[in-house]
Amino acid sequence: MRSAELDEFVERVNERTDIYSVVSRYVQLNQRGGRYWGCCPFHNEKTASFSVSTDKGLFYCFGCGAGGNVFKFLSLIENITYFEAVKLQAQRLGIELPKKKSSPEQERRRREERTLVKLNEEAQEFYHESLINTARGSVGRKYLEGRGITKETIETFRIGLAPEEWDSLLKKFTRQGYTPQQLETVGLIVKRKNSVGYYDRFRERVMIPICDVFGHVVGFGGRILTAETEATPKYLNTPETVLFNKRNLLFGLDKSNRAISSAGVAIVVEGYMDAISLFSAGIKNVVATLGTAFTPEHVKLILRYARKIIFCYDSDEAGQRATIRALPIVQQAGADVFIIKIPDGKDPDEFIRKHGKEAFEELIKNASTWIDYRIRHILANTEHSTAQGKIRALREILPIIVSADNRVTGDEYCKKIAAELVLDERLVIDEYRKALKQATKSEPIAAKRTKANDDEDLRIRMASEEILRMAWHETDTLDYVLTVLPKEIFNSCHKEIISWLETCAAQERRPDKISAAEELSEEANAELSRILLNGADELGKREIAIFEESIDILRQIVLMKEYYKLSAQAEKYIPNDETTYNKTVKEFLKIKEKVDNLKGNL
Ligand code: UTP
Ligand code: MN
Repeated sequence: MRSAELDEFVERVNERTDIYSVVSRYVQLNQRGGRYWGCCPFHNEKTASFSVSTDKGLFYCFGCGAGGNVFKFLSLIENITYFEAVKLQAQRLGIELPKKKSSPEQERRRREERTLVKLNEEAQEFYHESLINTARGSVGRKYLEGRGITKETIETFRIGLAPEEWDSLLKKFTRQGYTPQQLETVGLIVKRKNSVGYYDRFRERVMIPICDVFGHVVGFGGRILTAETEATPKYLNTPETVLFNKRNLLFGLDKSNRAISSAGVAIVVEGYMDAISLFSAGIKNVVATLGTAFTPEHVKLILRYARKIIFCYDSDEAGQRATIRALPIVQQAGADVFIIKIPDGKDPDEFIRKHGKEAFEELIKNASTWIDYRIRHILANTEHSTAQGKIRALREILPIIVSADNRVTGDEYCKKIAAELVLDERLVIDEYRKALKQATKSEPIAAKRTKANDDEDLRIRMASEEILRMAWHETDTLDYVLTVLPKEIFNSCHKEIISWLETCAAQERRPDKISAAEELSEEANAELSRILLNGADELGKREIAIFEESIDILRQIVLMKEYYKLSAQAEKYIPNDETTYNKTVKEFLKIKEKVDNLKGNL
């Protein structure tokens, strides 16, 4: 999708962008020696090694090596692609995106979407006005006041009230020129079932506007003012529309994204009211799901701003179950996940109103890791006073510890669990070890081994190249190489080069590039050129040191191979042939010693 038009667009955005003002949204910068310095947002550090040069329009971190232009910075920090970063910056500068050559149909749809957003925004203002500026709004104002929601919060979230009539919005907006179809498309009105015409979806409800991350109003949650009944749910939400998709939306994110990115963590709550309450109490890095399960799309949204997510769902069973279900989704996405369980009161809203901001900050500080949380959850939900119950709980817990993939903390956890279940520590650790073994068995060991082999192959190749380069310059060294190393260690292409160099040495002629091209296979010749291109033309002290080191690396690999072979053999002799066993052991201990000596040199 590259085009002159696109290049010109990127150039235009670049020209009007000042890297300092972009970066300083995320990083606190101080001027020093013609540059700006700050703590790198891409790795953990306490002293500033992240620098920005406004003249060059570049950033670079001397600590972690991240660097590039302003769009690269944005793409890294917002976790978006390079071109998305250009678009984001264009949006911030108010530069219009280049019009893609879109079909009239696409064009029409885009226009329609803009109209629908505008419609929602006008509805938001209509509800808001009804709440704050009309006599009939007093029921809503009283309700919100009763819940401790201040005027300021009402303004921040543009909270409103849907009047109780069946058609106040319908009438007003059709008078303004909107069609019933448009109002129906965004879910503001509903078609009558048994007669013609429409009626307002939201009536006599506190209206909470729901925005996308850019702050466009895409839907509403309407809360009933009285107790809910079967016929009237507590919240009535905008149905799924072209603008409103609960999987992709997080309530509050348009307001909290800055706080999330500067705190490096997002707090996820279940209810609109929880988010509103925390935000107004000064815990601003908060978002709420819209009464649905947490989705991979939600994680992605959050990852644009922070790597760490703290779940703080209601403390009732439904909330805890929802938490358990959300954990794997977050982990799969690679975010760090923590959990707060509200100790007193049903939900975060209640807690913070009762205990205040500091108490909530204390909860954040003490948030559990997911392992702790899940173990506690199992312990709380299993009967483990009997021996049978203890075993059942243990069986459920062990896989969690195993999946944590850390033997040190694994043992620690075993001790804790032994204490909780009043079981013998050794028994728990034994069971854990068994579970660990089981898990590694079922893991694709083949994949692991390939990885190890790949590493080894790579080390062999790198070392061989150094040795070949030396042998090219000094064919005499080949004698030495082949007395300390078996030829088999080299790959077939390298073996061919070695044999050819040996021939040259035997015929007392210097190997040169022309004869190489004539006498070697095409593959070996190309490989030799590549090797020679990489190195120095002259041999110096450095080259000799590298050569010796390379020999040691290969010797170590050869010895280790032998060592493993022998130890496997020795194991076979254990039960019935003690003398052979002892002999083999002695042999491989000797090898081990050699390897250890080599390691000392490396
Ligand atoms: P809660 O009942 O916990 O919401 O439901 P809340 O925000 O804490 O409500 P208050 O404090 O009683 O006013 C959590 C979320 O589930 C969705 C809403 O998104 C709500 O915020 N929900 C709940 C609905 O969509 N419909 C309902 O009837 C109830
Ligand atoms: Mn609630």
